[in-house]
Amino acid sequence: MAGRFECFDHPSTLAGRVAELLHQELSDGLKRPLGLATGRTMEPVYDALVVRLLALPAEQLTAIRERWRSFNLDEYVGLGPAQPGSFAAEMACRLVTPLSLKSARLQLPDGLAANPAAEASRYAKAVAAAGGIGLQLLGLGSNGHVGFNEPPCGPDAPSRSLRLSAATRHQNAAAFGGDPGRVPAGAITLGLEQILGAERILLVVSGSTKAGILARLLSEPPAPSLPASWLQGHPGLRLFVDRAAMGG
Ligand code: GLP
Repeated sequence: MAGRFECFDHPSTLAGRVAELLHQELSDGLKRPLGLATGRTMEPVYDALVVRLLALPAEQLTAIRERWRSFNLDEYVGLGPAQPGSFAAEMACRLVTPLSLKSARLQLPDGLAANPAAEASRYAKAVAAAGGIGLQLLGLGSNGHVGFNEPPCGPDAPSRSLRLSAATRHQNAAAFGGDPGRVPAGAITLGLEQILGAERILLVVSGSTKAGILARLLSEPPAPSLPASWLQGHPGLRLFVDRAAMGG
């Protein structure tokens, strides 16, 4: 795979390294907004970022708070910030509250919008109006999705509202009491078009449950059956993995 590759023995050192790069981007003043992801892979990353930022001198932390601009990849249809399980609630709990950020500075698709398809287009326009994404943080779905770009998916896939696959609802069931049936059936996601439009991409893959899909990503040519494979040609891609994700 093109791009730089770093492998870490432990998930905590992996998370610490990614947090360091996010901190650097925030300290550089965010010429373009950050692209943020949710999910279990990002939990230790955001925890490590919070520890780093709260240790800064007050004026540096204030400058970061004032310049913060980010767009999340996706949100479940039917869930809003008040509902546990929503990505908006996750961002509030992981970053907004501990860092005392202004929540309006962290944008997500509105899962409660009456017309999810129209909301997906509005959200893509908001990203474009902000100049596109500078640094995009990405996790890897166990079926090869990025954001909620489910297979099959081409590199030009636009931001859209879509139905989630059974595999993805199963993957994300932990946040809904372990019951895939309670995971919302639909989502709004930035498309691969917007993701590939980011200047730089940090793809983070952690844990043994991702070993199979990571092995495919590292060995197969780009194809719609593996949406993350379209990242391979991105000149600003960097891949961060732990040993477990590499198969031990
Ligand atoms: C989820 C999200 C992605 C996330 C990926 C991996 O469904 N939509 O943004 O990166 O799948 O999730 P996890 O880190 O929990 O394995």
